[in-house]
Amino acid sequence: MSDRLYIFDTTLRDGEQVPGCQLNTVEKIQVAKQLESLGVDVIEAGFPISSPGDFNSVREISKAVTWPTICALTRAVQKDIDVAADALMYAKNKRIHTGIGTSDSHIKYKFNSNREEIIERAVAAVKYARRYVEDVEFYAEDAGRTDNEYLARVVEAVIKAGATVVNIPDTTGYCLPSEYGAKIKYLMEHVDGIHNAIISTHCHNDLGMATANTISGVINGARQVEVTINGIGERAGNTSLEEIAMIVKCHHDIDINTNINTQKIYSTSRMVSSLMNMPVQPNKAIVGRNAFAHSSGIHQDGVLKNVQTYEIIDPKEVGIDDNAIVLTARSGRAALKHRLHVLGVDVDGEKLDSIYQDFLKLADKKKEINDDDILLLAGVSSARENNVKVEFLQVTSGVGVKPVASIGLMIANEHFEAAATGNGPVDAAINALKKIISRHMTLKEFTIQAINKGSDDMCKVHMQVECEEQIYYGFGASTDIVAASVEAYVDCINKFRK
Ligand code: KIV
Ligand code: ZN
Repeated sequence: MSDRLYIFDTTLRDGEQVPGCQLNTVEKIQVAKQLESLGVDVIEAGFPISSPGDFNSVREISKAVTWPTICALTRAVQKDIDVAADALMYAKNKRIHTGIGTSDSHIKYKFNSNREEIIERAVAAVKYARRYVEDVEFYAEDAGRTDNEYLARVVEAVIKAGATVVNIPDTTGYCLPSEYGAKIKYLMEHVDGIHNAIISTHCHNDLGMATANTISGVINGARQVEVTINGIGERAGNTSLEEIAMIVKCHHDIDINTNINTQKIYSTSRMVSSLMNMPVQPNKAIVGRNAFAHSSGIHQDGVLKNVQTYEIIDPKEVGIDDNAIVLTARSGRAALKHRLHVLGVDVDGEKLDSIYQDFLKLADKKKEINDDDILLLAGVSSARENNVKVEFLQVTSGVGVKPVASIGLMIANEHFEAAATGNGPVDAAINALKKIISRHMTLKEFTIQAINKGSDDMCKVHMQVECEEQIYYGFGASTDIVAASVEAYVDCINKFRK
């Protein structure tokens, strides 16, 4: 029988560290439940000591999720472990993930310590965590740049101290696949008691090798992989769950199984992308818009004769349904509700009505409504309860005229209006808005992105606004570029500290 590969999803911890991608507790629960139905084995739900929000999310996810193990991250510090154990109180299956840097540069510069003292701290942390839970994972931060002999000593010591899983992170994404694989092999061959624990991979994508390194780790004996949906994560991201799940499914020669229901991959990818406002690059393996699009004549001809000529995965295997009903202005609530359900968003009642009204407005402007549009509408509708709302926006711009904008805002049930000029329509609209909101604000980053193609397309706007030395991230989406920009700016304002 083939071996089992455990999938440890860290979308809600390492993935959520991406600036601007923070989720609230309700959204995190939605993602956690989707991960449960996708079949992941472990959900790393957060780093409880880092903030009350993270603590609360770990606690609420623990209540909401039944099958996967819920994991909480800590440093090798008693207080962190106390708080993590408290946050995990309601989890049916729980794990504490504790650890410390083991590379020479971490030991010297982060801890001003030495190798022996680091082993002592690692062992003490694992023993302390075992007082609370039976399942303790240890991470050797920057293991990718830690010399193998010393790493083997650390791993042996923490397994003796009671670690059930040992994580070997390539924290900086530096290793070559052959090097990372050799590291895992070295540990498998040189650590006494290695079979008393599971060895885990945790690879970052700084040099674009996260997936290759993870697979190399698996081939050499790792039996848990730490991954995120769409490969999101710090800097260039983490190993992507969907890539690993499909590699082991396609490559029978690796001879390993996961519990992933691959037909839920697409909807999970879209849900995470939409909730985190983090677009999926079109050529992203498995879940990108072009991942299954054959555009060259030679390829199309081959695929029409026999799909196997150019296709190694049937898109249906990852939940992409080519025959999905295209929604138009004539589609009813039931069709919209069904499509949202397929995309992992379950709505009813007033919320469904509100999304449906937005859907009809968009369908008037755009012939066919696709999955990205629908998810955007669902996201926009949940932002409605905000304090500051745009009542109207009128902009005049063009060739030979000075752009001018007037705007009406509702702030805590009071109506305000202002008008301004600018060097373009967006500048004019933001200047008008700034006349009403008098705090000192600086636009730090502004990106506009069309979703599909066509001049009737929806556009997404991401913004960073600085106010009182804090950076706030905002998002807007509309068929009107100026309206989307103002919406993104207002989204930032709604997040300002009161
Ligand atoms: O990349 C890393 O080393 C980590 C650890 C905290 C597990 O995320
Ligand atoms: Zn990481």
